[in-house]
Amino acid sequence: MSTTSSNHIVCVGAVYIDTILTVPHFPTEDEKLRAKSIKRRRGGNTANSLQVLEQLLEHDPCSPQNFPSSTMLHLLAVLPDEGSEAAKFICDSLPSVDVAAFSIFREGLHDAASSYILQSQESVSRTIVSINELPEMALHEFNSQIYQLNEKFGGKGRIWFHFEGRVPELILQCVLFLKKTYPGFRISVECEKPERVGMAEVARLADVVFYSRLWAEKNGVGDARRFLEAQRASTRDGALLCCTWGAGGATAVKKGVEEVWAHVKAWKPLLDTGQQVVDTIGAGDTFIAGMLFSLNNHDDWALQQKLEFSNRLAGRKVLQEGFGGLG
Ligand code: FRU
Repeated sequence: MSTTSSNHIVCVGAVYIDTILTVPHFPTEDEKLRAKSIKRRRGGNTANSLQVLEQLLEHDPCSPQNFPSSTMLHLLAVLPDEGSEAAKFICDSLPSVDVAAFSIFREGLHDAASSYILQSQESVSRTIVSINELPEMALHEFNSQIYQLNEKFGGKGRIWFHFEGRVPELILQCVLFLKKTYPGFRISVECEKPERVGMAEVARLADVVFYSRLWAEKNGVGDARRFLEAQRASTRDGALLCCTWGAGGATAVKKGVEEVWAHVKAWKPLLDTGQQVVDTIGAGDTFIAGMLFSLNNHDDWALQQKLEFSNRLAGRKVLQEGFGGLG
């Protein structure tokens, strides 16, 4: 990859290997149930977003100047031993992403984090059980990767960090370090799982925050607009706040002297196409990919256009298995 590139998106998060069983309905306790199919694929929120981003960048007809010459995608994750099959599987799954340079490979550990996912055809929803036995990243490991990254690419253009909201205490330290050491870097974070309450502290510092419906509801607010209105006081001036609401679409606000709001209904294909929702795993990750792409590569789009683009992308994703063909 060229080092003259000027635009970098660095995604920080965990990578999973997903085993997905499609079942006619969710089993009840003690039930024996036969699955309709089994699939194994690479997962993890930021890795899923990167897989969509690499396609968007490659196929964007509107900004040929941006790829491949000037946008590079990087993953910063804790991965199993570099020589392991799991690490190879993960690297191979993201051919246009720089996985190896800044990720942390845990020597001697051969298993990746795993998710076992039941995907119910009846309710068109999924239940995920995950396990991650790889030792978490330490702050000093993050810092040393960032020094390297800055040495290689800093001063040559825009660097955007996107954090999956995993370990709030650690992410807070990482974000504080970035803001102190490299104030020019832009930062987005995801507040997805409400039990990770500490992410609210991180959201205070971010340029862009992606909230899930679950997060909003657990914070006692039953609609996206009211939820975002309530977040304005606890986020930065000029921040962009987005909230996805499943079948209720998505809403965003760009804070400022003149606030800009945008809202979209959930995207649906033409009714007569007969297309059905088949795979909701990673719909939110796809939406985030759409927004990161729009924000990085389409300054010329209004907020409403960015939201429509990302919402449509997530809508297309759920009609198909996996993340291929979304460019
Ligand atoms: C979907 C996903 C899966 C992964 C799980 C981890 O958003 O990233 O690919 O197994 O969530 O929480």
